Amino acid sequence: MAIIEFPQDMKWGAATAAYQIEGAAFEGGRGPSIWDTFSHTPGKVKNGDNGDVACDSYHRFEEDIQLMKELGIEMYRFSVSWPRIFPEGTGAVNPEGVQYYHQFVDALLANGIEPMCTLYHWDLPQSLQDQGGWEKRETVEAFAEYAAFMFKEFGGKIKKWITINEPWCVSFLSNFIGVHAPGYQDLQLATTISHHLLLAHGKAVRRFRESGIEGGIGYAPNTEWNEPFSSKQEDVDACRRATGWFIEWFFDPVFKGSYPEFMTDWLKQKGVTLAIEDGDMEIISQEIDFLGINYYTGSVARYKENHDLFDVEKVDIGYEKTDIDWNIYPEGFYKVLCKITDQYGRVPIYITENGACYNDEVENGRVTDDRRIQYLKGHLAALKRSMDSGVNIKGYLTWSLMDNFEWAEGYDKRFGLIHVDFNTLVRTKKDSYYWYKKIIENGWFEIG
Ligand code: BGC
Repeated sequence: MAIIEFPQDMKWGAATAAYQIEGAAFEGGRGPSIWDTFSHTPGKVKNGDNGDVACDSYHRFEEDIQLMKELGIEMYRFSVSWPRIFPEGTGAVNPEGVQYYHQFVDALLANGIEPMCTLYHWDLPQSLQDQGGWEKRETVEAFAEYAAFMFKEFGGKIKKWITINEPWCVSFLSNFIGVHAPGYQDLQLATTISHHLLLAHGKAVRRFRESGIEGGIGYAPNTEWNEPFSSKQEDVDACRRATGWFIEWFFDPVFKGSYPEFMTDWLKQKGVTLAIEDGDMEIISQEIDFLGINYYTGSVARYKENHDLFDVEKVDIGYEKTDIDWNIYPEGFYKVLCKITDQYGRVPIYITENGACYNDEVENGRVTDDRRIQYLKGHLAALKRSMDSGVNIKGYLTWSLMDNFEWAEGYDKRFGLIHVDFNTLVRTKKDSYYWYKKIIENGWFEIG
């Protein structure tokens, strides 16, 4: 048995995203997003699920905030639905949408919970997609305008801002692998989009500074760890590329003002060109106030010629997996955090997502999700090890407050501390909810 203890000033929280929980897809003047289109396209989402109703948090936010309060979280990470603010992406503002988020943020503050607001968690207004989406620089400008509007409107209330959630997913997962909206399979397109997302991030940071509002801003890239199967140079290099796709590709431009050569060389060989215009890298590399890090999984991997994009294959050496089939790999969390600190300095970090999919159901009014508790224990121990190694962790926000619309997996995959019955919308606190509440109260837990 060991006691894992966190500093007193560590912030504890939970995270969600608009399309995954809000529902009310056709209410309150909201315009359609690419996720409405995608989820209503047959065959794109498991069981034909969509986010029309989701957890109905749009209507039930007061109940949800009471659940947060009882849980004891100090910070709540949510995202704003861009098409609720600008139904067409640009142009006319939707006052009802603005009013909704004011009510919501006011209620959080009244309950002593600090809002952390993500500006883009994947629900691009469909009208912008119709004009080319993130492939176009006009979308970058539209995002900067939307961000500036939000800073002006919510300045003083919201003090923690995240520009883009998981730019890797928005670019490569959605436009090269093609399993998320809009669902293209085009490496050139995805790479261009990755650059435009970084540019959108940089422009929003600039607008934030110009706004003069109080608070801090960052972005939330998703990370993964790939551990070389052997010390053979080809395995080491293959893993460097596989991890670099998540880390260096999305961090070097922000922290160093350039793309990593080992990655650009590789992508060039694949026929990809990068459309960098004069001034782009200066905009992208604006100083940020904190980093949001999302981490779920890692793998052992090795070189395999002509396999996938980076000549790398994952090797299943028998890791336990969560119910979404992702390896449980807390060591990777530790390594990712140490690598980021080694390469980019002691940037203040909030873990903006970390959590596990387990599909435990309600039995006699209780959800016994011990496996989620074990997962969280392992990852929090890894987090503490990273802090003891000098990683500058400010807070931890678990994914997710409640079960929700898990993108291409629909309602089939549950990540919440709170169970949601998607027929009745009844919320039930899981065992992990009570366990997390205790950590927040005590600042420590026992493991081993
Ligand atoms: C996303 C969440 C998602 C979670 C679990 C992250 O990629 O930001 O929206 O639900 O992982 O898949």
